[in-house]
Amino acid sequence: MSLERPAMATDPNAQPVREPKTNGTHRKPVTLKTLHQMAERAEPFACLACYDAITARWLERAGVHLLLAGDSAAEIVLGLPRTIHMPMELSIWLTAALKRGAPNTVVMADMPFLSYHASVDEALKNAGRFMTEGLADIVKLEADASFAPLVERFTHAGIPVCAHVGSLPQRSAMRGGYGSSGRTADEARRIVNDAVALEQAGAVMLLVEAVPSIVSEAIIAKTNIPLIGIGAGPACHAQILVLHDLLGMTDHAPRFAQPVAAMGQSLQAAGVQWVDAVANRDIGGKPYNMAESEAEALRQWLSQSR
Ligand code: KIV
Repeated sequence: MSLERPAMATDPNAQPVREPKTNGTHRKPVTLKTLHQMAERAEPFACLACYDAITARWLERAGVHLLLAGDSAAEIVLGLPRTIHMPMELSIWLTAALKRGAPNTVVMADMPFLSYHASVDEALKNAGRFMTEGLADIVKLEADASFAPLVERFTHAGIPVCAHVGSLPQRSAMRGGYGSSGRTADEARRIVNDAVALEQAGAVMLLVEAVPSIVSEAIIAKTNIPLIGIGAGPACHAQILVLHDLLGMTDHAPRFAQPVAAMGQSLQAAGVQWVDAVANRDIGGKPYNMAESEAEALRQWLSQSR
């Protein structure tokens, strides 16, 4: 069924055609199944990390297939130094905000640092909250092969998992910062084996960060689920970036993030324009009016009460 606006009716008695309630988006819902089918057809799908409902709505209108409420919100939204600072409660709220803004888009929750490490029970409870309160379609966790039993438990409980392998920002304290991975054959083999083990445990999707293309290609060769890449070369089934890096809003974007806009500068220019408008009492917009009789009554009251 086409959701395009029909051509103008020629019948003068025809009732006006109502737009379907699609939240402004005119596409069929994208689901995990859609993404698997796209990967099978070798048709790349587009993903972005973002953090609020209005932005999510515009990105759905743009045709983005998957939105991640990334723990990068700790840095981008909260101004904190590392993703490990992301609070669990806020993360659930932001995930739900994305789904409310983009109901026809796959929304991925990003399980924060230590929300899935202390015990399986706590991890399950937290993942369940992302699925119910957070309205998530899938949860992502940073993992190596040792997380396979946890992925199995999530899968058994009906929680779809995206396993994030390669560079793992939540472990940056161990390495003294963010960086790349898989640049030796040994490390590359370990990452590929992690991906294979996590798929075997039930993960329905993989994400690989900051590795040479050859590592992504090896993961694709050895697994059968969609692989999202970030700084991992063009072979991946899908690509993801932090929206603010793509928009040119971050001062220190990673080397793999090529901005397509200079929105930091546009934002600054808009701010300067507003500062000038306020200074010049030239604020635009439509003022609220008062009937002349009411205004006259108010003037009289003011003059009497002087
Ligand atoms: O938090 C984040 O933004 C991520 C990236 C993979 C996009 O995890």
